[in-house]
Amino acid sequence: MFKENLEARYYTDPAIYRREQSGIFNSNWQLIAPRSRFVEKGDYVATDIAGTKVFVVLGEDGELRGFRNLCRHRGAMLLKPGQGRCRSIRCPYHNWVYRLDGSLERAPWFSHADGEASLTLEDWPLHDISVALWRGLVFACVESPKTLTDQLGGLLNEMGQDPIEDYHWTEQRTLIFDANWKIYTDNFVEGYHIPGIHPEFFKAIDFEEFETTAKDNLVRMTAPTKGDLFYRGRWLWMWPNWTLSFFNGGMNTSRINPLGVDRTELIYDFYFADLSDEAREARQDTIKRNIAVIEQDFDICTHIHQNYLSGGYQPGPLSPRHEKGVHLFQKLVKEHLQSAGEAKPN
Ligand code: FES
Ligand SMILES: [Fe+2]
Repeated sequence: MFKENLEARYYTDPAIYRREQSGIFNSNWQLIAPRSRFVEKGDYVATDIAGTKVFVVLGEDGELRGFRNLCRHRGAMLLKPGQGRCRSIRCPYHNWVYRLDGSLERAPWFSHADGEASLTLEDWPLHDISVALWRGLVFACVESPKTLTDQLGGLLNEMGQDPIEDYHWTEQRTLIFDANWKIYTDNFVEGYHIPGIHPEFFKAIDFEEFETTAKDNLVRMTAPTKGDLFYRGRWLWMWPNWTLSFFNGGMNTSRINPLGVDRTELIYDFYFADLSDEAREARQDTIKRNIAVIEQDFDICTHIHQNYLSGGYQPGPLSPRHEKGVHLFQKLVKEHLQSAGEAKPN
């Protein structure tokens, strides 16, 4: 018998999404930014991990640290999402000030008179999260039961020969669409849809030779290229939600981040070896063509989401040749939901 796709409720049930937030997103390492974005002390990147707001900041001592982007007083968000530089972290709500190491420095106007109990600042540091570095990329984990290298699994060998440290980050693009993050992931980890959804891309690869391997937290897809294609013919997806694709002279990474059960953002970072002015046009052309291919997937994902919501879908069979990656991803989702106490259907 063929392996089957997930049931529709996995993509639409808010209770399952809540379990994913703790059992998948908060308990696995998330790609945050290239290390090169932290240069001076106080440089930070603030972002969202399936609703959990976090930031990573370079300390006075040159150490990268991560924290929940959440004030200990009454829970305000401290830093706006994005990149910036700060000398200390001041809450915009009541002006509590934290040092770059997360300790609370000041809580102005907190006590009124001498007779009132004063606040013990040491009792109220920011909640820290784990930070780790791999090959020039910074990862963070809200709760980390395993090491980053354990999670990276098959990627460690796969990337042994690739000089990714020679690629320089040039820009980030965020793309948003209305579908569950797993519908997009199912789509990313198979090349089966390329003839139907990406006709130009289909013409530029030898589809008969398209190969997928799926194991050890890694889906690897390859195809010989022909003609004018910006891709180098190798696409990687890593558990739980990031990807790496190679161009000629560069690469992109992406993080597939849910904004809710039915809305997803893709955070794409582009890297190139050649940053010269002469190569600027070629870099922009690669990015433009790459984004066009990515966006071709959004309509199909949005309509699948609507069909899953409609109640008319029973799980269909997965192609043994082309949808191994879909099966691996879905198996990992189920395992993590089970360990997070999956909600049983009524
Ligand atoms: S919530 Fe941050 S100072 Fe009040
Ligand atoms: Fe696609």
